[in-house]
Amino acid sequence: MNHGSSSSSSSSSTSASSSSSGMQMDMGQPVPVKEGGFTTHLAIPAISGGTATLTAQKVAANINEFGEVAGLGYTPNGLLGPTITTPSGQAININLVNNLTEKTNIHWHGLKVPADMDGHPENTVSTGESFNYKFTVNQRAGLYWYHPHPDMLTGKQVFQGLAGLFIVNDSEELSLKLPAGNRELPLVIQDKRIAAGTITYAPETMEQMTGLMGEYVLVNGIYAPVQMVETAKYRVRILNGSNARIYNFALSSGASFTLIGSDGGLLATPKEVTNLLVGPGERADLIIDFSAAPLNSEVFLISKLFEGGDAQGKQEFKVMKFKVEKYVVDTFNLPARLSTITKLTESQAKEHRTFDIQNVMEDHSMSGHGAMTESSDTMRHMINMQEYDANRIDALIKSGAIEMWTFDNTKGEEPHPMHLHGVQFQILSRTGGRNTLTPLESGWKDTALVLPGETVKIIIPFGNTLGKFVFHCHNLEHEDTGMMGQFQIN
Ligand code: C2O
Ligand code: CU
Ligand code: CU
Repeated sequence: MNHGSSSSSSSSSTSASSSSSGMQMDMGQPVPVKEGGFTTHLAIPAISGGTATLTAQKVAANINEFGEVAGLGYTPNGLLGPTITTPSGQAININLVNNLTEKTNIHWHGLKVPADMDGHPENTVSTGESFNYKFTVNQRAGLYWYHPHPDMLTGKQVFQGLAGLFIVNDSEELSLKLPAGNRELPLVIQDKRIAAGTITYAPETMEQMTGLMGEYVLVNGIYAPVQMVETAKYRVRILNGSNARIYNFALSSGASFTLIGSDGGLLATPKEVTNLLVGPGERADLIIDFSAAPLNSEVFLISKLFEGGDAQGKQEFKVMKFKVEKYVVDTFNLPARLSTITKLTESQAKEHRTFDIQNVMEDHSMSGHGAMTESSDTMRHMINMQEYDANRIDALIKSGAIEMWTFDNTKGEEPHPMHLHGVQFQILSRTGGRNTLTPLESGWKDTALVLPGETVKIIIPFGNTLGKFVFHCHNLEHEDTGMMGQFQIN
């Protein structure tokens, strides 16, 4: 299988060597984010039950300052799909109709679903066809999401607009009486490139390496929105649905906010933070308290600078605005205890596996590789020096096994948000780089951000759902060019 620019026919004419071999490469800077006017009101995606039809199609999305923009959606109404909202235990029946001009499918990111319902990259729906995704939600409350996953087309289809939230509720979470209704704000945060009335997806050589980062940051499909708030606590549920961009979320006031949940639902206890690094695919469930904010004051959700390799975190920018427009008395008090998370320990892992995720420098001086012709050296993204191969199983797992996996980015120069399908895992440790776990990493996770220089150990309780699943970097350009592997549960 040819993974786009980094072809697998790299046997003799290409010498691949670890980036530690002395060659340093300037990754170049991404196009800077352009801040908008923050005058258009935030929109909240429509809610759908667990039985629905999603039609992947071309849409003309009305993106405030841009007017009509050609993109992709699951309904004729615009980018993104409805937020599928369902109690745990519910039977799901989603009919995907493919009205695109290319294959697609749906992956249920974070959900534990049977292998043949999981949107494996080889399990696709052709143009004009449809497929019924049927499974039962069998896990805790949380903010999950769905998006296409066809091999080598995931980045393009997600970037152009195909994605949606999937919210699971359960009685434990409902008993906390967290802010709901208009005080619960799901936010899908995605950077886009918009040119000539189209969301264009044409990463240049450098952007295939860093991942594609757009200059316009949309929230729920709106560019630079404003949300009016009351003097109360809000539940703000963030999905970083960007292809490659990492955000270091903070409030422009410098105020702290409270983290209550991660990828796989509630944390055990709330954690007060002033900033939070969230990589592509990761979710953060927050309580933001506006109760002490003066009337008519404005607070921005911003992304602050951070250390994340050459291409990320070099710019601070505003994402959206909250404007305090009404005084109310809010009596909500966040409980000191949210849930129970039984910590897994290394000694419970029957199997240890290590995955080398360092980027690899490839010398192109003797070869002519498709898209990557302008410079002689390019970076390749692989796992254990191998690109994705649908015919190779990288890890054979015993049904129900607990395993420890190590992602080693010690000598790498790029961040990799590593994601496993079909499971929720815990993060045991991080050495090198930040050298610590973040508050977001104290709960259940399905995506672990591994920055340059870091080695991250995770512990995974695999389910009893037999079959083939993928794991990959959720930088979608990395994924599409081969930074993906397969595990099979037997
Ligand atoms: Cu959201 Cu395979 O990923
Ligand atoms: Cu996934
Ligand atoms: Cu990556």
